[in-house]
Amino acid sequence: MKNKKKVLKNKKILLGVAGGVAAYKSVDLVRRLKDEGASVNVIMTDAAKNFVTPLSLEIASENRVCSGVFDDPMSHINLPREADIMLIAPATANIIGKFANGIADDLLSTCFLSFKGKVVVAPSMNWRMYDNPIFQENLRRLTAHGVIQSGPDKGTLACGEEGIGRMADVSEIIETIKSAFSKKDFFKKKVIVTAGPTREYLDPVRFLSNRSSGKMGYAVARACIRRGAEVILISGPSCLEQPHGLKSFFRVETAQEMRDAMFKCLTETDVVIMAAAPADFSPEKKEKAKIEKSGKLSVNFKNTPDILSEAGKLKKKPLLVGFAAETGGRLDRAKKKLIQKNADIIVFNNVTAVGSGFDVDTNEITIIRKNKELSLPLMTKAAAAEAILDAVSDGMKKHAKSRRVESQD
Ligand code: PMT
Repeated sequence: MKNKKKVLKNKKILLGVAGGVAAYKSVDLVRRLKDEGASVNVIMTDAAKNFVTPLSLEIASENRVCSGVFDDPMSHINLPREADIMLIAPATANIIGKFANGIADDLLSTCFLSFKGKVVVAPSMNWRMYDNPIFQENLRRLTAHGVIQSGPDKGTLACGEEGIGRMADVSEIIETIKSAFSKKDFFKKKVIVTAGPTREYLDPVRFLSNRSSGKMGYAVARACIRRGAEVILISGPSCLEQPHGLKSFFRVETAQEMRDAMFKCLTETDVVIMAAAPADFSPEKKEKAKIEKSGKLSVNFKNTPDILSEAGKLKKKPLLVGFAAETGGRLDRAKKKLIQKNADIIVFNNVTAVGSGFDVDTNEITIIRKNKELSLPLMTKAAAAEAILDAVSDGMKKHAKSRRVESQD
């Protein structure tokens, strides 16, 4: 792919692996961090070696794994100095207690004290330990000093019990790392994102839909969260996992439901980004029973609400971003949409181009604004989402100014 922009490209991550049963996941974590373009140096506590071998982490990270303070007398200074961020996953109650009380009796706790950058901890332990007020006090002490917490999750624990204490999924930990590196230009901004297709029913069994998977919209929602926004995601049917950190999530089926959900949340919203593919028409009548198969079937259709247009007519309209799914290079139709729908930005994508549009992990977009157009090469939907938000961020400043002028009128 021409431009596979990796959010963690060239970032140096110092990964601490403590002695929790989730330590076995650290090999996968290292591999996936490297897939995102990061380099990883690993420090293990002695207890961690009961769960995962230094060799497996050495192979995964392609770097020597350190654990003893005296293995290399300068490692507790050099490792932190070279790192952009420290991540402890899993972070046991013991290592969190040492960090919180400034204890430095092993390489990991010594590096923590000498590290000057952002630290992310992914706690992992039995729910009884997690609930312990002394542990909670240690954790609060760390977060009060700016340490970022990722997880833990609720679920079945190693001991077979149900409760909170499972280390966060690797994907959530990586999202937390990306967020730690993200600029916060959307801090405190309220953003609604729509994603996925809609389903317009013919009868209880059959419906009209399209191939939208939700990937583009979910990537936009994740990017907004990383950049500090409060995000409401309104999603048509999709198999994707809900992004972590949403303010709220609405699952809808029809275009009408998508419209109603959006207009319910619109007050005080700063930005609306409509990456969804709602149907433009739906069957005039939804049969109560399954239509019998008998020769020709003719169906009358009616228009569905044009949600973007309706939002464009609002007196106090939020900054409005629409998409244009065209077949072929019909940029002219996308430009027309910008005016007709009174949108601030239209993101054009040719859904018949290879690697673009529906249900793929990449997209080739053109970001159209009243006075500028930015055509981007094929890239991941995550990178495309960042580019769209860069344009939105730029527009927000101008939009805020024009709303101040409007409110003085
Ligand atoms: O979900 P993915 O698999 O990742 O695919 C991504 C995508 C191809 C769906 C996405 O990139 C995209 O192009 N979304 C817009 C699809 C669409 O409906 O395009 P359109 O040109 O028909 O609609 C223009 C705009 O009006 C869109 O912002 C759409 O959300 C909105 N719309 C459409 C129909 C409708 N009834 N109401 C609307 O508000």
